[in-house]
Amino acid sequence: MSKAEQQWRGDISRRQALAGLGTFLAASPLLHAQRDPWPLGSHRRFMSFDEIRDVFDFEPLFRANVPLAIYDYTAHGTESEFTLYRNRDAFDWVQLIGGGGVDPNTVDTSTELFGRPMPSPIMLAPTSRQRDLHPDGELAMHRAATTTSTTMIVSNASSFPFTRIAEAAEGPLWYQLYARSDIEANRQPLAEGQEVGAQTIMVTIDQQASYYERDLHVRHTGGSVRRVARRTPNNPPNPYRVGAGRLWYEWELFDKLRPMIEVPMLAKGILTGEGAKLCLDHGVEGIVVSNHGGRAIDYGPSTLEVLEEVVTAVDGRVPVLIDSGFRRGADVLKALALGADAVCLGRASRWGLGAFGEPGAQKVIEIVNAELKQAMASVGVSSLAEIDRSIVKTNFP
Ligand SMILES: Cc1cc2nc3c(=O)[nH]c(=O)nc-3n(C[C@H](O)[C@H](O)[C@H](O)COP(=O)(O)O)c2cc1C
Repeated sequence: MSKAEQQWRGDISRRQALAGLGTFLAASPLLHAQRDPWPLGSHRRFMSFDEIRDVFDFEPLFRANVPLAIYDYTAHGTESEFTLYRNRDAFDWVQLIGGGGVDPNTVDTSTELFGRPMPSPIMLAPTSRQRDLHPDGELAMHRAATTTSTTMIVSNASSFPFTRIAEAAEGPLWYQLYARSDIEANRQPLAEGQEVGAQTIMVTIDQQASYYERDLHVRHTGGSVRRVARRTPNNPPNPYRVGAGRLWYEWELFDKLRPMIEVPMLAKGILTGEGAKLCLDHGVEGIVVSNHGGRAIDYGPSTLEVLEEVVTAVDGRVPVLIDSGFRRGADVLKALALGADAVCLGRASRWGLGAFGEPGAQKVIEIVNAELKQAMASVGVSSLAEIDRSIVKTNFP
């Protein structure tokens, strides 16, 4: 091949270059992070705080504020992210039916959990390392929760210690635990949490073998997001980096933790009726239907699809909470109609915090609450007691 031909073969045309750039962008994980309208896609500038209308508006602002590795850590799901998408798809399979005729200003969303009144069934799910999103991290999230009288569940893997978060504001706090296999090692964090006012302890039992491909990709490009498999006797090294750190869980865990817990104990990460019944057999007093926002096992069902099965199995004996994929007030209403007692917001609260700090987190909570009231008015119910199965029609595949 002559030199000229070599150069001709090696050169790319402007069209090819643009096509290559387009392909790169289309394949970018950023663009399929959430299967929902991407509001800023058609805008030339970012929205201001006052222009924000719904929770999705926060995501691109959050993304713009943080390094890619931090954004990915919040956005990603396990492996192919099937369950991450399915969590959102599931809301399309539930229709809301109703007659209206209720003024949203008269709608009352108040409820009660474990004997404590709450102005709304919307809560904040435990999510780790919030200081990555904003310097005030969980302190700001707690203040936002307090301002809106919302219960915040603090992650065991928070950036600030639980005691410090508890000091930041006055609102109700729950404590989430990733139990350690050395059962005695759980005693101190549990005692500390309860001493400074944790109203319940939520023990997370999913995410037993999660594997975030986006993290691996970030590592390949020089970033460093999180350690994957730690070498401990219970966590043998795994060449495919599927962290086995939590694979030791058994139902007896709840029996072992029970003597250390004086407040209600909940299990987070339940997806079957049978699992819920086993929890109750082992002293659990509240169930959280969760797939960790698509971050536990991939190709599992969305939480909305399995909610009724769990509610039926529990049969009113303990409260049933749900999370994974909730972004709108109408999403919350659908879960309440299928039997949930409360709904927790995970990524939505992180987007708000990451976009604008405390005011952002507060606004997220206010928006979803306002949407819930509007959705309730639209289907013609004015209190949570009036919500029942008749306001939804499900069409799960
Ligand atoms: C970035 C991130 C960190 C999380 N950290 C924790 C955690 O420390 N403990 C826990 O029990 N769940 C954790 N979760 C799961 C949430 O509690 C919740 O189940 C999930 O976010 C719900 O899905 P959603 O984000 O689609 O709302 C985390 C979720 C995300 C997105």
